[in-house]
Amino acid sequence: MRDIEAVRRDFPVLSRCTYLNTGTLGPSPEPVNRKLVDLYLEWEHGGPGHPDNYGRMHEATNPVRARLAAWLGVAPEELAFTANATDGVDIVAWGLDWREGDEVLISDQEHPAVFVPWLWLARRLGIKTKVVKLSNDPRVTLANVERAITARTRLLAFSHATSMTGLRLPVADISRLCHDRGVLVMYDGAQTCGQFRVNIPATGADFYSLNGHKWMLGPVGTGAVYVRRDLQDRVRPSWVGGGSTSVCDYPEVGRFEFHDSALKYEFATRPWHILVGWGYALDYLDNLGWPEIEARVRKLAALLKERLAAIPGVEVLSPTDPDGATGLSSFTLAGWPFEKLYEALKKDGVISRPVAELNALRLSTHFYNTEEEVDRAAAIIAKAAKAGA
Ligand SMILES: Cc1ncc(COP(=O)(O)O)c(C=O)c1O
Repeated sequence: MRDIEAVRRDFPVLSRCTYLNTGTLGPSPEPVNRKLVDLYLEWEHGGPGHPDNYGRMHEATNPVRARLAAWLGVAPEELAFTANATDGVDIVAWGLDWREGDEVLISDQEHPAVFVPWLWLARRLGIKTKVVKLSNDPRVTLANVERAITARTRLLAFSHATSMTGLRLPVADISRLCHDRGVLVMYDGAQTCGQFRVNIPATGADFYSLNGHKWMLGPVGTGAVYVRRDLQDRVRPSWVGGGSTSVCDYPEVGRFEFHDSALKYEFATRPWHILVGWGYALDYLDNLGWPEIEARVRKLAALLKERLAAIPGVEVLSPTDPDGATGLSSFTLAGWPFEKLYEALKKDGVISRPVAELNALRLSTHFYNTEEEVDRAAAIIAKAAKAGA
């Protein structure tokens, strides 16, 4: 990677605090922000509804869709833009045809994005959710998935990497297991896309949701959902309107056809400029180079876990093996309630994220973080461990 100090200057937040919270939201690089602001002003000043502007901005999202699709290894027709990762889960959840008693497997480490839609479906439509226990040992996770599948299981919906501990799941093996038993698979890539490349076909996913505003460093309010081509008839659009149809006669006939692609999941006026901004962020990351990004994420997370493990009283919850590890590192400190430790770090300028369910804190290390920042966070935690709560 080119000079890391030069890269860091593209992220003004890094001179203001020790930002270890990309897992919540990633800052967009300053060159991306500037280009986006320029685009927005150009759009505004030209009149957002002026035909020269309106159509052009809408059109400008097509190359972004094509780029993103290529990056994910799928066809552009299989991707719909959304506003976040949760939208994608909802599109699939409400689009499939459910029968009372159908079962959906979720894991015990899910973000509300991946459990609330299914709980709501359970209450409204009578499906059943079953919680599968995850383990840092992939063999245990697979065995637990296998045990949970019954004749009524229709879908497994897991995070690709979990929000709580950053555990990266053995998705290809899980998909194989599910498909062998006729179970569909959906993954949520909110915590994977951008800290490493994701090839959706390699995950075996039938459906995959993601966002642009975490590790991909795109503007807030960007996301997409992948619905495999041959499954698009089974995922019916729940929210429809202008833009989701290819043919629409009105008022005489009422004949209408949805787009024969994932475009049918999009409708109405969209924040096109920020979707274009997501494309700028993808350019920025491509220019840095994915092998370099992935290598730094791996190196910094490994260093952080090593530093944390050396502190008396710390238990590192995130996996250390390279296949299961990500740039998210969660830990507990004996005797310390998470809120108090969160405040102690914040007081010294280190921004983390509480994981209340585990009385833990989560630290995210992206490529723009440094060894010094890892040491700074570890030193504060070591001081807290010594002092006691
Ligand atoms: C695994 C996971 N899925 C989904 C989300 C929510 O993302 P969004 O707000 O883009 O829907 C998060 C956010 O923290 C997450 O960690």
